[in-house]
Amino acid sequence: MILILQLLFALSLCLRADGYDYYRVVDCITSSPDLTDAEYIDTYYFNKSPYLRFNSTVGKFVGFTELGVKNAERFNKGPVVVQERGELERYCKHNLPTDFTNILEKTVRPKIRLRSEKHASEGHPAMLMCSAYGFYPPAIDVYWLKDGKMVTGDVVSTEEMRNGNWYYQIHSHLEYTPTSGEKISCVVEHASSKEPLIYNWGGSFTDSDRDKIIIGASGFVLGIILSTAGFLYYKKKSPEFV
Ligand SMILES: *[C@@H]1O[C@H](CO)[C@@H](O)[C@H](O)[C@H]1NC(C)=O
Repeated sequence: MILILQLLFALSLCLRADGYDYYRVVDCITSSPDLTDAEYIDTYYFNKSPYLRFNSTVGKFVGFTELGVKNAERFNKGPVVVQERGELERYCKHNLPTDFTNILEKTVRPKIRLRSEKHASEGHPAMLMCSAYGFYPPAIDVYWLKDGKMVTGDVVSTEEMRNGNWYYQIHSHLEYTPTSGEKISCVVEHASSKEPLIYNWGGSFTDSDRDKIIIGASGFVLGIILSTAGFLYYKKKSPEFV
């Protein structure tokens, strides 16, 4: 993984009206948080082509065009190169650690929502949607388990979508025909959690199972109400104990 901290200097000399474009780009490049390989690169461009560069590993300016070579000679003699030699410590090593913690090592756990998009009806399968919201970084794995086995077919997933505020969202759809007693789960694997995040679909009953349970439960409650009423009535009518 390479982190490039890039600062764009748009110098005041921008002759854009005439089609000329003069600018300078400063890069701090490193591949490890200990910054042992950090480089400070300061590049001057004219009309998108680099013509002069200071590279902290080389320790001096190098020109790529006639203009660049002339400037390199001049800068390498004077205080400019001395100033540039200090920028790796002063600018890069000062800012890179913050960027590592705030950007590269930052993880934000997704909020997961698992819902039914479409209930099963005669001859039509049901559709479940598992959504992960507000996570960072974008790399994420969302998949489905049916009775503990990964579902390969009948799954449609979106790409990770940018919210535009550094966070991402993703949606996965599973088309399935409910069968009694099966267990369906949505699993999310993301850098923000060592363990996979597993969300079980609550409706592990088919619609007709659910109806039977509702009828049974209602009958049970009604039975309790009636027998309590009967008991109270009986107590009221029977003679008081002395
Ligand atoms: C800077 O110079 C070193 C040594 O020549 C080189 O390995 C490195 O690729 C250069 N970096 C850039 C960004 O050009």
